[in-house]
Amino acid sequence: VERTFLAIKPDGVQRSLVGEIIRRFEAKGFTLVGMKFMKVSRELAEQHYGVHRERPFFQGLVEFITSGPVVAMVWEGDGVIASARKMIGATNPLTAEPGTIRGDYGVNIGRNIIHGSDAPETAQQEVSLWFKEEELASWEPSLTPWIKE
Ligand code: GTP
Ligand code: MG
Repeated sequence: VERTFLAIKPDGVQRSLVGEIIRRFEAKGFTLVGMKFMKVSRELAEQHYGVHRERPFFQGLVEFITSGPVVAMVWEGDGVIASARKMIGATNPLTAEPGTIRGDYGVNIGRNIIHGSDAPETAQQEVSLWFKEEELASWEPSLTPWIKE
């Protein structure tokens, strides 16, 4: 099954959006297989956002991600990578569609509440960067036959 890495950023935690965000992915029918509430080290933040190393906002992004606790999660389901990105919405919350997490709760690109892996390769890299295999719990929800044929 496909897996993606999602993280509720420090602004989402500070704004008490943790329950609301998890609720959306649960209600959609995806399966939570890993979760931890944690402070992010500078090293982990720099690795996670390594592709943006040369961008002008990189230092600010690393400062922000390390500024308070985050909720790191792995979610499973058919098509979860692309679907979670749609549920999260565009990078800039001001242009993100209403109904998406960023569209409903954000107004600033530097405070966009949640991260989601953008492709199968990055999903795999991010899941293994943030979680050990033994921290992931594979399980078969009993509701599965009611969620997919
Ligand atoms: P993530 O899920 O966090 O990776 O966001 P994304 O995939 O929608 O966007 P991207 O990977 O391109 O950028 C990573 C993060 O850098 C974004 O979530 C923003 O917080 C920040 N970022 C991206 N572009 C800009 C920018 O032009 N200005 C500022 N200040 N921040 C930016
Ligand atoms: Mg990204």
